[in-house]
Amino acid sequence: KKIDNFKSNMKIFVGPILHSFSPSDLRILNPGTIAVNNLGKIEFVQEGVHSDQLLKKFNLTSEHVTVLKENQFILPGFVDTHIHAPQYVFTGTGYDVGLLEWLEKYTFPKESEFKDSSHAHSSYQKVVKRSLRCGTTTACYYATIHLEGIYLFPNSLTVSFLASKILANVVKSVGQRGFIGKVNMDNNSPDYYVEKTEDSLNDTSAFIEYVNSLNSDLVKPVLTPRFAPSCTSKLMSGLADISREKNLLIQTHISENCGECEWVKNLFPEQNGYADVYKHNGLLNEKSVMAHCIYLTEEERKLFKEVNAGISHCPNSNFSLQSGVLNVRQLFREGITKVGLGTDVSGGYSASLLDGMRQSIIASKVIHMKSRDAAEENICEPLTFKEAIYLATLGGAKVLNLEEKIGNFEVGKSFDALLIDLNVGENGTSTIDVFRHDKIEDLIEKFVYLGDDRNISQIFVAGKQVMRSNERSQQYLQQ
Ligand code: GUN
Ligand code: FE
Repeated sequence: KKIDNFKSNMKIFVGPILHSFSPSDLRILNPGTIAVNNLGKIEFVQEGVHSDQLLKKFNLTSEHVTVLKENQFILPGFVDTHIHAPQYVFTGTGYDVGLLEWLEKYTFPKESEFKDSSHAHSSYQKVVKRSLRCGTTTACYYATIHLEGIYLFPNSLTVSFLASKILANVVKSVGQRGFIGKVNMDNNSPDYYVEKTEDSLNDTSAFIEYVNSLNSDLVKPVLTPRFAPSCTSKLMSGLADISREKNLLIQTHISENCGECEWVKNLFPEQNGYADVYKHNGLLNEKSVMAHCIYLTEEERKLFKEVNAGISHCPNSNFSLQSGVLNVRQLFREGITKVGLGTDVSGGYSASLLDGMRQSIIASKVIHMKSRDAAEENICEPLTFKEAIYLATLGGAKVLNLEEKIGNFEVGKSFDALLIDLNVGENGTSTIDVFRHDKIEDLIEKFVYLGDDRNISQIFVAGKQVMRSNERSQQYLQQ
């Protein structure tokens, strides 16, 4: 009986369905049928329209079936492998300087304001909702260093919350899948935004315990040493111990900016380069989510491949902070495919991975033109829109070690998905026009280059529809 109930709660979608299996292997089922059980898992997926036998087998009626309309399709939800939630408050400003100056001038002052929990609460609501409505069903967040903050309720009740805890609460409340990290910084930081080593480690343990106590399948803690210059070796190796003990992901920055790389060489003269600093302190392994990676040497890339560390490519940020251009084609050629996209808000000015995909393609074209004009032997071909979709979905899932759970629509995975509708705004507000010669591949490519969140008409995380369109308009009213 239980089984019957389980089956009758299944949802079936019929229409164009696309998902990646590798950078070059984007499969388009047109039409395809996908069935999601009441646990939010994919029960089956196949080419073609569902048969009556299939409905019978699962004891379903046509009520359970959603047939997509023309110019609609389904793809996996986006995975943002690198985003700084507190930096959303100044996103879209402050791109006049490079990374190190930008941290001092804008980032540290703005992040330090998150000791005020009510500011944290209202700001985190905005960034998380923005991220989700842009189609990010899984995000890997940096919060701030803060442990204690005071939240003043209108009835003058005061409750103390860790500002980073508030971010975990908000992500859970909107139904996004995510990792939340309390930032660690005990070195080379301004005196208004720095921790003592012991406090940093203790607060991290308290934070992990808190996130685990939320008992959520979707929201998990991640260790977050800001980057090597902000951390002593003692702090980094303490965090590595916690990672091993609790089996947690580690996220940090590496080789983003030339000045930064020089600084790391000077700070850690006994180590053989930036990657070695993390390796030496136990932070470079299969649990690592390493942002930027622009200036990794060939030897360091070999090391990344050997230990199976993940790479978060943040092209908008790399352009906006004039950091440099990561060569993803080179990574692919070297057999490194544990690569995803990060918005890096607010080093990057967009919270959308549609933007991330476009900028990853532009970055690859910059590299391509350089290698072409230098008449290099092995010209780096630009990324295709299909490869960009891989980076935004399955690649990101791999980086976060969630490949068994999300990233494409293989049977047994969670249904984290976007229903795309190119018909919205036909009254002239849409940025996409469809013509009669357009094939499904054209529609998908147009969405990658021209779409925006208005085209994301339904968002599913673990089979559950989140942020329905009426909630989205609510969001605007509240703002
Ligand atoms: N390196 C250290 N901190 C940061 C940060 O907040 N943003 C970026 N882009 N790079 C960093
Ligand atoms: Fe970053």
